[in-house]
Amino acid sequence: MNIREGVSLRQYNTFGIAAKAKFFAEISALADAREICSHKQFVKTDKLILGGGSNILFTKDFDGIVIKNNFKGIEVVAENSDNIFVKSGAGENWHNFVLHCIENNYAGVENLSLIPGNVGASPMQNIGAYGVEIKDVFHELEAFEIATAEQVKFSAADCNFGYRESVFKNKHRNKFIITSVTFRLNRIPKFNISYGAIEQELEKMGVKELSISSVSKAVCNIRSSKLPDPKQIGNAGSFFKNPVISQELYENIKKEFANVVAYPSGNEVKLAAGWLIEQCGWKGYRKNDCGVHMNQALVLVNYGNASGDEIFNLSQEVMDSVNKKFGVTLEREVNIV
Ligand code: FAD
Ligand code: EPU
Repeated sequence: MNIREGVSLRQYNTFGIAAKAKFFAEISALADAREICSHKQFVKTDKLILGGGSNILFTKDFDGIVIKNNFKGIEVVAENSDNIFVKSGAGENWHNFVLHCIENNYAGVENLSLIPGNVGASPMQNIGAYGVEIKDVFHELEAFEIATAEQVKFSAADCNFGYRESVFKNKHRNKFIITSVTFRLNRIPKFNISYGAIEQELEKMGVKELSISSVSKAVCNIRSSKLPDPKQIGNAGSFFKNPVISQELYENIKKEFANVVAYPSGNEVKLAAGWLIEQCGWKGYRKNDCGVHMNQALVLVNYGNASGDEIFNLSQEVMDSVNKKFGVTLEREVNIV
């Protein structure tokens, strides 16, 4: 295996931040993971697992070893009358995996079309979009435990999924290398088009009979019209989570801001962070090469040569102003390194 030194991470993160990794290795088999983790030089070295780099902000050089996960392969591992269990290597591109499912008529992930990144990171924050989260189709995953060099299986319950949350984002952060994920997909689609914009888009497309491929196409169209393409402007999608607040705080905010955008979330209320940020006047803001996207205030952007620090500092200013105006604390969704 080739372990490189002093590698620029610019092409490995969608923010396009020019941080460097002291060491960098690409792994595609368990033997590679074992080799690095038992290597005398790296046993005590900090390790960072990287997929497509689409949910990460490097605020400094990484003084350890970046392990880019390239485990490949998609296969059906079990079937029954209702479900197909499809196992994917962690290094498969997420959208290619979705397209593979659609081509084979495996339903369940079509609403998650066009999310950047790799399959291995999908459980990390329980990726979600347009009314579906991966917890809805997750069966199990396999992960390599760095400390013991053992392969461990995690069920959905073990992952403790929440809104943009899992054990891998918290107590197991950087302790396991997720090597594969198995999804429980449906033979017969259960369409979820309750997210308003999907229905409108299907109508616009002239779709008469629903199919997983038309739902996927509708989601792709909506996403492309709203979210900046990282190939053109550096970004990592929503920089913050949508905050979930108490009913009481919501009522107070509503008294002053009658048009606050909110959704029920159990006994609590989820606010649209993009709306809160826009109300604070940030939408379209730019300072040097970092800014707040002009169509989606929840997305911070790098127009070229912004540093991770500049983006981080801007995120803090945004958080402070939202807190001052609404008394709501935003939480970063993006993983800060
Ligand atoms: P990376 O950025 O490489 O890593 C993310 C985190 O996971 C890091 O902490 C990393 O250490 C860890 N990690 C990665 N791979 C592994 C592994 N194999 N084992 C253990 N840990 C690992 N997210 C959504 O949920 N919904 C969206 O709609 C959405 N839209 C987006 C739109 C755009 C334009 C962009 C740029 C991002 C969007 N995201 C969205 C965020 C991002 O695409 C997802 O979080 C995605 O799952 C990240 O995958 P990745 O492979 O790029 O992860
Ligand atoms: N809004 C504004 N101004 C803005 C942006 C949004 O007022 O600048 C308001 C609008 O009222 C809009 C509402 O916020 O109707 C919701 O906006 P949008 O539909 O764009 O979704 P979001 O809540 O901003 C979330 C996810 C996205 C996911 C979409 C679709 C989070 C943090 N973000 O965004 O996920 O794709 O819904 O399901 O939950 C990501 O996690 O990186 C991501 C892109």
